[in-house]
Amino acid sequence: MNEDLRINLYEQAKEWIYKAGENIRLKMNGPLTVDTKSDAKDLVTTLDKETEKYLAATIKKTYPDHKLISEEGYGDELQTLDGIVWIVDPIDGTMNFVEQKRNFAISVGIYEDGIGEIGFIYNVMDDILYSARRGEGAYKNDRQLPALQDELLLDESLLSLTHFWLCDNRLVDKNNMMDLVQKVRGTRSYGSAALEFAMVAEGVLDGYLSMKLSPWDVAAGMIIVHEVGGITTAIDGGSVNMLRNQAIITAHPEIIETIIEQYLQSGK
Ligand code: 2AM
Ligand code: CA
Repeated sequence: MNEDLRINLYEQAKEWIYKAGENIRLKMNGPLTVDTKSDAKDLVTTLDKETEKYLAATIKKTYPDHKLISEEGYGDELQTLDGIVWIVDPIDGTMNFVEQKRNFAISVGIYEDGIGEIGFIYNVMDDILYSARRGEGAYKNDRQLPALQDELLLDESLLSLTHFWLCDNRLVDKNNMMDLVQKVRGTRSYGSAALEFAMVAEGVLDGYLSMKLSPWDVAAGMIIVHEVGGITTAIDGGSVNMLRNQAIITAHPEIIETIIEQYLQSGK
């Protein structure tokens, strides 16, 4: 992608994301319809839909040749990642949004021919924007995040996990996961994959893994984590496919191999 286009897209997307966030803050205490999707835990609100509709319409109007993959149905059905593809989650952490009215984010990744070029994760209530352009580092608001280059042992690590998935033996080897949870210094669970990726990039978490993530949960986060030297893969160590759901791990480079080899691959 040429640099001028990348800067334009970055500035434009940033403006739209701030605007969408402002709209969420303005309306979130008004009447809100909460529906369920695949099951009672899978929530969607009128504001998820409204936010995605706004971003989709704005992207399509400004860049008619760009494609969109998104959570709430305003995107395209894509078979490939050819061209410029926006991957959007209007509210990541919808359950937090509904239950807590905080700890949720707008996540926007912009890819060209499958390569992550620009990523944004906007923590709407804290007004913190994590962002990255490929090759130019990652930022928390205006501050550049330092690279993850310190030495790190697994037993000094803080990992974020979705506990729900750990109970399902079809997805993980429970014994392995119990060993992992006991091995690390601590575990956390924040309920927004995008924010958990941002925390890995910031170095306040050393890793995050979840057994079922969609492209829009990880598209921006992967770009931001990559810019500080973190690594994101499928849990078997393979590459992430932006066209389907997957079990995914993102982590500090010093610990990811051990987690995959000793806890995620063995015993399955
Ligand atoms: P959401 O809030 O946009 O639905 C919660 O642990 C994290 O996992 C959130 O980022 C949530 O995204 C995502 N998530 C929850 N259930 C999911 C599912 N069935 N498939 C994919 N991602 C899911
Ligand atoms: Ca999501």
